[in-house]
Amino acid sequence: MEFIDLKAQYHSYQREIDARIKAVLEHGHYIMGPEIAELEALLASYVGVKHALTVASGTDSLEIALRALGVGAGDEVITVPFTWISTAEVIAAVGATPVFVDIEPASFNIDVSKIEAAITSKTKAIIPVSLFGQMPDFAAINAIAAKHALSVIEDAAQSFGASQGGRRSGSVTTVGSTSFFPAKPLGCYGDGGALFTDDDSLAAKMRAIRTHGGERRHHHPYVGMNGRFDTIQAAVLLGKWPHWPAEVERRGRLGACYSDALRDVCAVPEVVPGNTHVYAQYTIRAPNRDLLAEKLKAKGIPTAVYYPKCLHEQPVFAACGHKLGDFPESEKASREVLSLPMHPFLTEDCQAEIIAAARACLA
Ligand SMILES: Cc1ncc(COP(=O)(O)O)c(C=O)c1O
Repeated sequence: MEFIDLKAQYHSYQREIDARIKAVLEHGHYIMGPEIAELEALLASYVGVKHALTVASGTDSLEIALRALGVGAGDEVITVPFTWISTAEVIAAVGATPVFVDIEPASFNIDVSKIEAAITSKTKAIIPVSLFGQMPDFAAINAIAAKHALSVIEDAAQSFGASQGGRRSGSVTTVGSTSFFPAKPLGCYGDGGALFTDDDSLAAKMRAIRTHGGERRHHHPYVGMNGRFDTIQAAVLLGKWPHWPAEVERRGRLGACYSDALRDVCAVPEVVPGNTHVYAQYTIRAPNRDLLAEKLKAKGIPTAVYYPKCLHEQPVFAACGHKLGDFPESEKASREVLSLPMHPFLTEDCQAEIIAAARACLA
């Protein structure tokens, strides 16, 4: 059994993906070939924004957004300590300081009630993470940001395809940033990511930063990077694109089925009313998490822990001066979370086997 079965996905869509890749090999425009613009138009219309920019990774996309917003040395950016390292790494990479705000336990997302206390005169932006595939309360977050004149960057690396109040993840903040890392809901077959915004001048600046800060050939007003998405990876996503809506629906059904079957034996990722969830990870809580993982492994069921250590516990952020106990909900989550196999090619039989095993272990 696979935790995420990428081979099954490739074999199902092989004809379309191979044809799209072959077309790139035939035309030879490997950098910013026509597939990039084709994909960006599809992404912008799907997410519901004026501008979508593909980039080299979900980490680069966050960094490009911060640079374009002018965040740098001396600035503070609020985010959560319970996320992948990239979210805070990019804040440090542009010379700013990450300021952590604890999560709320049910959704694993930022505790909105604690944001205002973390705002100082140096705060420039908030990066809330739509962790595991569900968005935090963006109406509340945007209201706080507007009150304090802050930008909001949704880290939607795990939530492409999710929605809140009928609006797609990536479209509800100043900028939305996603990842096409292979294991993400919409994954390519290498590294990749995208940025979403309705702001024309921000989009133009992000486009420039993506290509060495250049506005046009041999004119570089900004410090940029080589942050372009590969044309061959755009071809992979275009080959997968016709199947994407069915994948999102399947993910939703599998997630709901897990929750209905496990709710009485452990804490399950409940969907907040008004939200849809794409279950980039299907993550339960178990007080005896490591033992549960071992027992499931013995039954042939792979699991994963996202994330066993919070970011304030990471040596790279030691200078932030935090200690254990500063973010109790994040720390508790890091001890209790366990993700079960989740991907659109998980069969009913396989899921039934996982559920039966998990129930037996949790009983
Ligand atoms: C929450 C979060 N933010 C950012 C990233 C960075 O994305 P990438 O791996 O494409 O750089 C990831 C994915 O790994 C992620 O899960």
